[in-house]
Formats: sequence, C-alpha cells, structure tokens
Amino acid sequence: MPNTRHEINLIDSFEKIPVKIFNTPALGSAFVAVEIADLIKDRQRKGQKTVLGLATGSTPISLYAELVRLHREQGLSFKDVITFNLDEYYPLEHDAFQSYHSFMHRHLFKHIDIDPSNIHLPNGELPKDQIKQHCQEYEQMIESAGGIDLQVLGIGNNGHIGFNEPGSSLFSKTRLVTLDNSTRIANAREFQNISQVPRLAITMGISTILKAKRIVLMAWGMKAPILARSVEGQVTEQIPASILQQHNDCTFVVDEIAAADLTRISSPWLTGECEWTPAMIKRAVVNMSLKTKKPVLSLTTHDYNENGVGDLLVEKGDAYEINLQVYYMLRDSITGWPGGKPDAHIPKHPERSHIQPKRCVIFSPHPDDDIISMGGTFMRLHDQGHEVHVAYQTSGNIAVTDEFVTRFLDFAVGFEDMFGIDNHTSKEILSDAQRFLARKRKNQVDTPEIRAIKGLIRRCEAKATCRYVGLPDTRAHFLNLPFYETGTIEKKPLGEEDIQITMECLRSLKPHQVYCAGDLADPHGTHKVCLDIIFESFRRLKAAGDEWLKDCWVWLYKGAWQEWDIDEIEMAIPMSPDQVMKKRFGIFIHQSQKDMVPFLGTDSREFWQRAEERNSNTANLYAQLGMTQYAAMEAFVRWKEL
Ligand code: F6R
Repeated sequence: MPNTRHEINLIDSFEKIPVKIFNTPALGSAFVAVEIADLIKDRQRKGQKTVLGLATGSTPISLYAELVRLHREQGLSFKDVITFNLDEYYPLEHDAFQSYHSFMHRHLFKHIDIDPSNIHLPNGELPKDQIKQHCQEYEQMIESAGGIDLQVLGIGNNGHIGFNEPGSSLFSKTRLVTLDNSTRIANAREFQNISQVPRLAITMGISTILKAKRIVLMAWGMKAPILARSVEGQVTEQIPASILQQHNDCTFVVDEIAAADLTRISSPWLTGECEWTPAMIKRAVVNMSLKTKKPVLSLTTHDYNENGVGDLLVEKGDAYEINLQVYYMLRDSITGWPGGKPDAHIPKHPERSHIQPKRCVIFSPHPDDDIISMGGTFMRLHDQGHEVHVAYQTSGNIAVTDEFVTRFLDFAVGFEDMFGIDNHTSKEILSDAQRFLARKRKNQVDTPEIRAIKGLIRRCEAKATCRYVGLPDTRAHFLNLPFYETGTIEKKPLGEEDIQITMECLRSLKPHQVYCAGDLADPHGTHKVCLDIIFESFRRLKAAGDEWLKDCWVWLYKGAWQEWDIDEIEMAIPMSPDQVMKKRFGIFIHQSQKDMVPFLGTDSREFWQRAEERNSNTANLYAQLGMTQYAAMEAFVRWKEL
C-alpha cells in the first residue's frame, strides 16, 4: 500500500512515511491530541464510538496530559471511547507501579470520564497456560469493537513498536513475547534495576497494529537514528517500525531532536532547498570529510560533486577556498583557555580574553555531571585562576542503592557506639532507617529521612570532587531543586520555586561564564528540566534588566549521555593523557555511582568509560578532519539567546 501523498518532492524520495516535525514534544502532543479530540467529537456527532489503540512509555505522557486538559477545560468526553492498549509486562500485577495498567490509570483513565468497561489492556496476571486464549480473545474484542480507529505508537531504540521486537513477523498477532535485552535495559528506568524488569510481555502483533485505520507514531528526543532508519530505510522485520511504510494512513509526529537524522535535517543539501549559512557549510564539509576519510584540506571538486555538495560550489566558488574556510572554523574552536587567554587578542578565539579572572558557574544537574562531562575544563578553569563555582541542581538521591546507604548507616551507628554518643534523636533516625530498609518492599518509595541520607552521600561526594579540583567548600552550592524530590523516577514538572532558587543563585554570583548540561538524553529527563529552569531564569533576569548579564556567556556541555556533533562544536578543550587520568580519578570519587548504579540507561558502561570514550572520540574526529591529534577533548556550544 503506498502512502497517500498528493505531491512528490525531493523529501518524499527519502521519507517514505509522512513526518511532522515540531519544536517541542508539548507542541507535537498538542497536535496529536487535537486529532484525537476531533475524531472523538466527529464520531460522537454521528452516534458512533471511537476505538483508540494506546501506548505507554515516556513518549505519550504529554499527549495524555493534553487529553486530560481538553477533558477538563473543554469538556471533551470519553464516554463513547473504547481503548485497547498495546502491551503489558508479563507477569506483573495490575497494581504494581510499573504495570501499564497503573500507568494508564495514573496518566489518563482516572482523570477522564471513560467507562471502565471500555478499557482494555492485556492481562499480565493470568497463568501462563491461559495466555494464548487471552491473546486470541484480545484480537476478537478489537474486531468486535469495529477495529481500531486510531492507534498511538511510540518507538523503541531498536525500532520496536508495541513490544514487537526486531525479527517480529509482519503477520504476528497478539501474543506473549520475550523482551529484547536492549528493551529491558531501556525500561530499567521504570524499575529499580534491570533484574526487576520482567523478561516477557504480552503485545499486540504487527498485523494487529497494521489493521488500525489510522496510525500516529510519536517520537521525542534521542530516537533520531532509529527514526531515520524507519522512515528512510528499507522495510525490514529487523526494524519493526519500518513496516509502517506499508500502511496507507500513518504519520510520524516528532520533535526536532528526534528528527535530527532525517536527510532533510542532517543533509538538507540533498533534499533540495538549502541555505548555505557558515554553519551549514561547515556541516556539509565536515560530513564529507568524515565520509570520504579525507582531511578537510584535501577535499576536491570531485568529492563535492560525488557527495551531493556540488550546489555549494555553484554558489560559493572554489573547493579549496571553502575547505580553508571550514578548516579555520575548526582550528579556531580549539583552545586550551576555556576562560579566554589573558592579554591575547585573538579575534576568533571562542572566549573573550578580557575580564580576567572570570567568575564561572558550572551547573551540574546531578552531583557528578560536572566532573563527568567537563572535568578537564573544570580543572583548567580553576588552574588558570578563575573563580569557579559549582551549582548542583538536584540531590541525585534516587540513584543511591539501598546497599550503599546501609553501609553508611552502619558507619554512623558504629561511630556512635565507638565514641559512646548517646543522642536520642540520631539513634532513632538511624534505627528507623535500618528497620525500613530491612523490610523494604520491591519498589517502595524511601522515607524522607533515607532520601535525605542518600542525598547527603552524594553531596559529600560532590564536595570531595570540588576539593580534588582545588575549590574551597564555599564554592559548592547545593540547590536541591524541588522538582526532583519525589523519591521516584517520575519527577514533578518544573515549578516556580525551582526558577526562584536558580535566579537567586545566579544573582548572588553574577558569573561571567555559565556552563550547563545541554544533553537532553538522560533516561529520566532530569537534564532537560534542569536546562529549562536555567533558560527560564535567564529570560526573567534579562527581562528584569540585570546589568551583569551583558558580561555573561553561557556554554552548553554534553558528555554523560551523548556528545555534540563535531560540526556543532564552538569550543573544544584538549586534554593531555595526564589530564584524562586526573579526570578519571575525579569521577571515581563518586563511589555511590560506581558498579551497581541503578539507572544507567541503555548504555551499560560506567560513566568514566563513557566520558573517556566520548572525549577521545571527539579528539579523533578532529584529527581525522586534519587538526592536531590530542588524547581527548571536551566540547561546548554557546547558547546565544542571552
Ligand atoms: C509502550 C510500547 C513501546 C514504547 C517504546 C518507546 O506501550 O509498546 O513500544 O512505545 O518502547 O518507549 P518510550 O516512549 O518510553 O521511549
């Protein structure tokens, strides 16, 4: 079945599924919510019921929030809506926090006027010998309801839809499946650790999904590679989402980050219209250099034509001139002076040489992001005489294991015994905490005291890192932003108090340089919220006319979870092998985050390994482009909206 398209253009020759790109997940979700609301209202007018296929996971949370809003504020009624969820873990009790039953009630059903008898989810509580029949009945129930009018989907990093893992047959129906290891690792964020993630799940099949009259797949954030392969690649059972190319009414609704690898975004010169800004020229030439494995200065007219960049030559002239332009851009981004080189007036230097020393604030979403993501730069700034402060945004308490905190409780009890300390309150807190942990049920939320102790452990580690770098204790600021303090993986949305605390911190320090985490890929979205809080604080400070802002530059780092693309980097700080080692030992100080870290995301390596690999990779890419070969490099992009 071909996709219904009226006009064929160059983008369509790459994208075999219509893709709508929105700036943010909120805008994309609002768009999908309107489509769903219109469908429900239209069918209600005709006296018909609407059958929705629903997904879970992090992706549809904002869609459900918007549907709830439409229900509350605009009276959208779900009385005539029948729902079928895609999947459920097996075995798992309905009332477990991680079950998709609980998820759906928490995010949608309990907030709307749907008739509970119209809600259907695969049943994760049945004995195994009843599953086959249950799955057949599930299919029949969908058919008896008239089939799914609109199916909402997310996409796994391996391309799964529902829990149809790579290799699932085009003809598969609702059934019990084994979860791919990568899916279990990805979904470990919903559980305390990987061992608690069920190995099996019940999922609608690919053929069940394809029977839906309309399909909307949503993807936000770090799904770019798999999204591009699903939309632009061959149809293959190895990428289940690519099979959606065969559906005649399917749309992908994505945000800009998830769209990043589509050809029209990553290499717009190949899909037609392309405005040759300096950044675009840099991207095209850098891509070509890496693809052809030739240093930038060795690229020829022939390479430009062969790689679809001939258009640039038509517009800008000689290949060598363009090569030189890009070479200088790359060269000028490298500096050993992140705070600017004093008294050296280098016009193209990434940082200002005036204002020396600078007052710098590193915002660290968790207590170890500073050292993991920009440890080399952190040390350099301090060693070069700048006044470096670190503002730790969240307590990071949920990432400390119970075993780890038990060790500290034992220490505290032992310390009291050793010195005969007889403080009633402290004894009570310690014994309550020990008792709670001894009896703690799976996934039970910690008491406020235990959370506080876990936060304290991380705070001490952060302080130790600052001391290791050479900072006095007064330069470590612990903001403990309230949005994070739920004790669970799901955080509160960004709140007014978070912004006030951040504005106060900025106003009291009046920095010349601010570093913040621009990587939006951490598994629980904490970095994204932390960044939004900083941006909003800056916007308000600017609106309030704070004078000091005119001397303040903001740099974004990545590193713990991903790295900037090489063509985006505006400041690259090289590191010697010794500095790499020094950074590694700085990361080791965060002992609570070594070995058994509960929330590692899809990458099972420890943070120091990821950081080292990313930093050396950046250095190697620079070298491949024809720059000097360094051992490692940390990379930054400037936020210019200030
Ligand atoms: C959820 C489901 C899965 C998710 C996918 C993406 O019901 O069936 O296919 O849509 O794993 O998960 P998130 O949205 O958490 O990235």
